[in-house]
Amino acid sequence: HPSNFKEGGDVVLKREECRAKGGAPGFKVAILGAAGGIGQPLALLMKINPLVSVLHLYDVVNSPGVTADVSHMDTGAVVRGFLGQPQLESALTGMDLVIIPAGVPRKPGMTRDDLFKINAGIVRTLCEGVAKSCPGAIVNLISNPVNSTVPIAAEVFKKAGIYDPKRLLGVTTLDVVRANTFVAEVLGVDPREVDVPVVGGHAGVTILPLLSQVKPPSSFSAEETEYLTNRIQNGGTEVVEAKAGAGSATLSMAYAAAKFANECLRGLKGESGVVECAFVDSQVTELPFFATKVRLGRGGAEEIYQLGPLNEYERIGLEKAKKELAESIQKGIDFIKK
Ligand code: NAD
Ligand code: LMR
Repeated sequence: HPSNFKEGGDVVLKREECRAKGGAPGFKVAILGAAGGIGQPLALLMKINPLVSVLHLYDVVNSPGVTADVSHMDTGAVVRGFLGQPQLESALTGMDLVIIPAGVPRKPGMTRDDLFKINAGIVRTLCEGVAKSCPGAIVNLISNPVNSTVPIAAEVFKKAGIYDPKRLLGVTTLDVVRANTFVAEVLGVDPREVDVPVVGGHAGVTILPLLSQVKPPSSFSAEETEYLTNRIQNGGTEVVEAKAGAGSATLSMAYAAAKFANECLRGLKGESGVVECAFVDSQVTELPFFATKVRLGRGGAEEIYQLGPLNEYERIGLEKAKKELAESIQKGIDFIKK
């Protein structure tokens, strides 16, 4: 293989020339950690996204195999693979959107914060690569603990002098996806009809579903509220325990990541009214980062929505969430600053 192995060299070039001439629409997307449990199904889902014209698959292991496999799908995106740190720069150059699911997952008995030791360094290295090779890209950060890895990424970008808070998004879509599913079960409706805002962060009590703001408007008994809140907050642990040592959510996460990435691309394209929850640089609370609904546009998270009216149960939950979030955010900031 040449150092930057490609899906059948000439074919790639012909298709790229064709695109250049025809001005076919499409964005360039990179997945870092593309050979992993999330990375592989996410690569598949991005390859079938009509908004994607070029898909770069980077990992430190096994990316040639995943690339060869995904590249045979007869969809529009041109797929290229990149293996190991020396190829990170080529993987990132020219990208519009970088999705990062690189890092170790939990095993039963672990918290997401237990992953900090290994994943903090991985996220730092990858974000240094983004700062150098595609500083204008939108970043979707999936690696846990998201409550700390997003602040790490922000500090890396600040250090490099390229930080634009609108372009850094921690992916919390899986919390919303789970909330929609579990609430739909309780209401006895199709999950596609349900929209549950989930705010705060992405770990335990920092995951705060706002059941008082569910669409369509619904009311829940105290028992239902308690059941739903606990199940949404512990959805990740439910999967970790069921997988019994074989990792955490990968398939539902790839679905959620692909859904969120698609919304980011719709925003980049200039579509209006694209709104999703994400963990972002925020002034909604006194904390520097917080997950809320955001409006996605050409510049990333162009508008950050306020929390809206909370009931007593949610106000208590919010205080608990902020306490834990403050520590996780600080831990991420200190990792780069100290
Ligand atoms: P995995 O172990 O199956 O895959 C991780 C991949 O990352 C592997 O292929 C590995 O080689 C790669 N990797 C490791 N170091 C790398 C580096 N320096 N550069 C590039 N790639 C590197 O794990 P997974 O199940 O895919 O989970 C990945 C991460 O996503 C974990 O941290 C997990 O906790 C997190 N996660 C987040 C959410 C969320 O909602 N945000 C949901 C599920 C999982
Ligand atoms: C999830 O919510 O599924 C992920 O954050 C993975 C985990 O460790 O729970």
